[in-house]
Amino acid sequence: MRIKLTVLPGDGIGPEVTAEAVRVLQTVAGAHGFKVEIKERLIGGAAVERSSSPLPTETLDACLDSDAVLLGAVGSPRFDRLPAHQRPETGLLLLRRALGGYANLRPAVFYPALAACSPLRGEVIRGADILIVRELLGGLYFGEPRGVTDDGGAFNTMRYSAEEVERVARIAFDLALRRRRKVTSVDKANVLETSQLWRATVERVARDYPTVKLDHVYVDACAMHLVTNPKRFDVILTENLFGDILSDEAAVITGSLGMLASATIGGEVALYEPVHGSAPDIAGQGIANPFGAIASAAMLLRHTLQLEQAASDIEDAIELVLKAGYRTPDIQSAEAHQIATTNEIGQLVCEAIAEVVDLRHAYHAV
Ligand code: IPM
Ligand code: MG
Repeated sequence: MRIKLTVLPGDGIGPEVTAEAVRVLQTVAGAHGFKVEIKERLIGGAAVERSSSPLPTETLDACLDSDAVLLGAVGSPRFDRLPAHQRPETGLLLLRRALGGYANLRPAVFYPALAACSPLRGEVIRGADILIVRELLGGLYFGEPRGVTDDGGAFNTMRYSAEEVERVARIAFDLALRRRRKVTSVDKANVLETSQLWRATVERVARDYPTVKLDHVYVDACAMHLVTNPKRFDVILTENLFGDILSDEAAVITGSLGMLASATIGGEVALYEPVHGSAPDIAGQGIANPFGAIASAAMLLRHTLQLEQAASDIEDAIELVLKAGYRTPDIQSAEAHQIATTNEIGQLVCEAIAEVVDLRHAYHAV
């Protein structure tokens, strides 16, 4: 099997973390006997500097011609003053729309080895395992009309069709079937018409999934439950902006935003990216946390290629490296640890993959 992958390193720490994700992907490909053919292209600020567009045509063409896209991060304060159509974030939003993935999966999982990194107490987060399903192509991010007014004001539109809600809800319910069979739909139905439509549509979809338990929580309450009782959640289904905010918040369960991975599915080509941003303040120093990017590569294997074993080999390798005590500075705690660079973490995960694969073979041999 040969996989065509477009890698978009982007800005800030994006290039550093994607380099490690690619290395891990090549290692696991070697161990499992498949090939990954990689094209690297520009996006975001890195693309604006060369071509004045944050999503050059040749980048988009390469992505559309791939089996999957792996992205690092976009954005830098250096580009904040550019007109909207040239901002790095615009490149990412255009890419998301062009690839068509409307369901953004953001797992937030408790890692025992990182318990001390979370500001939350161990008993609150131990065992937490949440999958946020964020609608990615609607809501305020894409709603029209939008703009500025003559009197110096500005406006955006929150807009959803029933079809847009239904398709992402189906993905959430399908995924819940493979987990603990619970969907919590998050909205603001006490105030917003879009949320009332959201809730009614989700309830309709739920009738097709009688074995999945559905509950509804307002977004403000959800924000509170995430830090007081995260174990009450299995799958969280929510609209674009709420999902953006709640997924960053859910990082407290893991201990660092640098750990979180994401997959965007449902469209023509799936897009995989860590949840953390470009972190320009620490770029180029070799201290960025590559685990989120590496875990995104695992999601790629799972969701695009159905290579469940290869995906869990990467995830097991991540746990091994954490258990062995290797840390980037963002996941340091009071315990004794070995600080490792971005590059060293990538190397350690590759070595751990060999270990995980050997162990599995030995286990099957007895
Ligand atoms: C994310 C990011 C993006 C978003 C930005 C960079 C446009 O915050 O993926 O969560 O808001 O979707
Ligand atoms: Mg975000």
